[in-house]
Amino acid sequence: MYNSKITGVGHYVPENIITNNDLKQWMDTNDEWIQERTGIKERRWIDPQSEDSTSIMGVKAAKIAIERAGLTKDDIDFIIFATLSPDMYFPGGGVRVQDYLGMPTIGALDIRNQCSGFIYAVSVADQFIKTGMYKNILVIGSENHSGGLERSTRGRNVTVIFGDGAGAVVMSRSSKKDIGILSTHLHSEGKHAKELSLIGPSTGRWVDTIIKENDPNDVSYYPYMNGQFVFKHAIVRFSEVITEGLQANNLTSEDIDLLIPHQANLRIAQFIQKKFGLSDDKVFNNIMKYGNTTAASIPIALSEAWEQRKINDGDIVVLAAFGSGFTWGSVIIKW
Ligand code: ACO
Repeated sequence: MYNSKITGVGHYVPENIITNNDLKQWMDTNDEWIQERTGIKERRWIDPQSEDSTSIMGVKAAKIAIERAGLTKDDIDFIIFATLSPDMYFPGGGVRVQDYLGMPTIGALDIRNQCSGFIYAVSVADQFIKTGMYKNILVIGSENHSGGLERSTRGRNVTVIFGDGAGAVVMSRSSKKDIGILSTHLHSEGKHAKELSLIGPSTGRWVDTIIKENDPNDVSYYPYMNGQFVFKHAIVRFSEVITEGLQANNLTSEDIDLLIPHQANLRIAQFIQKKFGLSDDKVFNNIMKYGNTTAASIPIALSEAWEQRKINDGDIVVLAAFGSGFTWGSVIIKW
């Protein structure tokens, strides 16, 4: 058995900043409500005139991660792409990255696990590397939410939260024991699938049905979120899955050097921080700048934390996420 290690990190966010006050042109909302409930000050939304898309942003983040890993695109032997907002209904984003980066005909896998997508992707990559099947895997989380959000007061509880962006890591084979990904922990509870979902267009609600019914009150093609229900489950599952990861490695919360929670809501992160008794410097948050970027949130935060030298060799870094599905998970890393 080999070990797997994150050897390069990178991120890309569109230039176009949308502040809380900017949102007022579309909906009845205000800066105070958004900051108090979520911690968000601004988010990035793709400029529709720009070249950016989910896969293009993923490519931009990936190029940085590959370079920082000291590799070239030809060293990568597998791609894992996590998103809930692919450029096309099918195929997924992984093959687009393979094409845009001009890579050889390596395998490309898409992961559909929303906010937990990056955690699931890291776990899959970890297994492929540990068994010896692949040596260097490119793992990307990228989202283009802005085009699909309802820009009206009706959709405000969801629309104000989400932002666009991409993060990527390179995971590589390592022969050093006890360094790298120590363990990953994945869970789901599908009975709550509809509490945070986008129903149409899909095989459950095809475009021709939507057009035929032509119902102005049909919101099935906008994301739906039962916010308080999701919030209550999130704080429980975050705590459980972090504890599970620590226990699996005989660690306690005192061993955590940096916790990077999925950036869903600053209040959720603060609750977890308090629960585990972590000081401010041991929890990394950037939701204030980017909102919730779903599968991209953890790799963007990881890349920024690394750039700010908040992650050092030998550190215990904990990644954790909860979201639509419901799905949740954690990754325990010795950097
Ligand atoms: N601006 C102003 N007022 C608003 C807005 C807005 N953008 N949105 C809602 N309101 C109003 C509501 O209409 C309501 O008004 P009322 O009391 O007159 O009826 C009031 O504010 C309270 O609304 P709630 O929805 O109850 O507000 P809540 O405190 O629950 O906060 C939030 C909403 C921020 C969405 C919160 O529930 C939350 O963060 N939930 C968890 C999100 C999460 O973790 N998602 C998981 C990841 S996402 C993924 O997997 C894709």
